[in-house]
Amino acid sequence: MTIAKTRPVSDYPPGGDAFRHRHLIGIAQLTPWEISYVLDAAEQWVDLNRAGAAKHDDALAGLTIINAFFENSTRTLLSFEIAGKRLGADVVNMHAAQSSVKKGETLIDTAMTLNAMRADALVIRHQSSGAVQLIADKVDCPVLNAGDGRHEHPTQALLDALTIRRRKGKVEGLTIAICGDVLHSRVARSNILALTLLGNEVRVVAPPTLTPPAIERMHVTTFTDMNEGIRDADVVMMLRLQNERMDGAYLPSAREYHALYGLTPKRLEKAKPDAIVMHPGPMNRGVEIDSSVADDPVRSTITEQVEMGVAVRMACLDILTRRKRKIPGWA
Ligand code: CP
Repeated sequence: MTIAKTRPVSDYPPGGDAFRHRHLIGIAQLTPWEISYVLDAAEQWVDLNRAGAAKHDDALAGLTIINAFFENSTRTLLSFEIAGKRLGADVVNMHAAQSSVKKGETLIDTAMTLNAMRADALVIRHQSSGAVQLIADKVDCPVLNAGDGRHEHPTQALLDALTIRRRKGKVEGLTIAICGDVLHSRVARSNILALTLLGNEVRVVAPPTLTPPAIERMHVTTFTDMNEGIRDADVVMMLRLQNERMDGAYLPSAREYHALYGLTPKRLEKAKPDAIVMHPGPMNRGVEIDSSVADDPVRSTITEQVEMGVAVRMACLDILTRRKRKIPGWA
């Protein structure tokens, strides 16, 4: 496995000029340098996390982080919780299904309630695009978007970029095919923004019904033929078929979708011989990806993506609370 060299701290503007944002709402607000800054900050946590110590740092000691999830999650929720705890923070999880949201409390009232409890950072997942920005506009603390509707999932794109950089030695000048249910995918949107910004050729491979209108405006090339779309790609990123967001007949059947768009060992031969296979999870095995590809120990990066998720979320929590912690230069 190759691991790209990180840039030295001296390469970046000093203090808060390296990352100017109070919140992390989307990749759309970030510059290539800010993305690179987060990836380099995350890199330092990877080895420490592998060393297995339960707690690595007290940087966030005394801070309270609230993870408020209005939609289900395994990877994002748990990795934000682990990230906060490894930095010494107190972490509280609010699951909407067991909260007063079920009694009809509005999103804004819920946000104001969490704000009144003096949270030091809020991590929000919500089924509606724009909901996280709405909360960020109302509260006093940093807000991190853990996925909002079809809009953005910025920490997923950052952990994917870190995974690519570690596997390929760089995250620029690569051909990256993002395949499947692009229409419903915030992961696709954030990844397209991040990977084009970093200077990669990004292809979108999807059936016409699952290709967002005017997606070419995001500087991608579109394909409806999977074999053509992944030809000579360095990275094949598969997406979950999001049946829960489909309110009509987008596809004839899962079986037909697999026949045309499923990633099989035979189809993967069209990509470069050393192409890596990514998937944000959760997977529909046998639909968008065969188990033999997903579990390929050499080409699949799926468990590594989960691992990088903890390091990236540690970096994001650390960076976004620096102003609150009055770190010199981060006023
Ligand atoms: N990739 C991702 O967001 O997974 P979860 O829904 O399990 O958090």
